[in-house]
Amino acid sequence: MITASFFSYKGGSGRTSLLFNVIPYLAEKLHASPEHPIVICDCDTESAGLTFLLDQYKANPTISLQRICNDGIPGEDLEVDSIREHPFFKALPQVADKFGIKIDGYDGSILFLPADKGSERLNNVNMNPLDNLKKLCLDNGVSALIFDTPAGDQKAAKWSVETSKIIVAVMRITRQFRIGTRRYFQEHLDEWENKHVILVPNAVPDGKIKIRGEEVNLDELKQNEIIDVFEEVFSGSSNYLDLGMLENDKFGVNEVARFKYIESVLYSEDSNNLSDDEKKAVEQYENLAELIGK
Ligand SMILES: Nc1ncnc2c1ncn2[C@@H]1O[C@H](COP(=O)(O)OP(=O)(O)OP(=O)(O)O)[C@@H](O)[C@H]1O
Ligand SMILES: [Mg+2]
Repeated sequence: MITASFFSYKGGSGRTSLLFNVIPYLAEKLHASPEHPIVICDCDTESAGLTFLLDQYKANPTISLQRICNDGIPGEDLEVDSIREHPFFKALPQVADKFGIKIDGYDGSILFLPADKGSERLNNVNMNPLDNLKKLCLDNGVSALIFDTPAGDQKAAKWSVETSKIIVAVMRITRQFRIGTRRYFQEHLDEWENKHVILVPNAVPDGKIKIRGEEVNLDELKQNEIIDVFEEVFSGSSNYLDLGMLENDKFGVNEVARFKYIESVLYSEDSNNLSDDEKKAVEQYENLAELIGK
């Protein structure tokens, strides 16, 4: 089972949009099915973007991250013949259609654990409740457990990262993000063993940037300020830095003009109707799904 956290040390990097766009390609790659679904959890209780984008923002959700933290997971100790019969998985909203995956009747290939409002209810919880969730998913044939995490060191971000083998480290290429992300990893690598960190610069401007009239060479920035610096941080660590989103002429995920106005899933949209920036982004979403699924 794949476990991955979409993480950034600071908000607004594009974690939610990235996850939103990568999931359908991951579902394709893993042949996600109702018997072997992908389970996505919104752990960002302060700003539950994914819950909002998937139309699951409810006054009193029957199931949520906060609920399972407080009351445990429904049917946690129950053994069932098929995941479809399990009270917990049965309670999760089925969201494949929201990712552009056309469905035919029942489709539980993508299940979603929404976040309720506020994080107060997490404050009383000391043990990482995602460990039990992970075990349950593993026992029931889930193909991937994916977390959208809060920014930085918030409690649920720590839980998600601890529980995941893969950390998708999303950042903008601005100085704050480069320094802050590097520092975050410098401080945490010793606590972890054998994590697989995929570095994803996001919303990277296409073409040229000018600073005080001088053109900045983005290839040099990528090599000197990102690749070299992060490789140095990871050298000698048991954790693996994956630069597969920065190889050859690639520089993370490019800026997509439409996302400045509307967050949407590019998957399965008629490819002739995508603009060039959208097509480029799609290539990288597929690439990231490969890196996560490999
Ligand atoms: N590739 C991109 N090109 C242009 N804009 C983008 C891109 N990716 C994300 N954005 C925009 O950046 C903003 C923040 O994105 P998003 O909500 O995904 O980030 P986040 O890290 O999940 O933020 P939060 O901290 O609020 O959870 C959104 O307006 C989104 O549309
Ligand atoms: Mg978000």
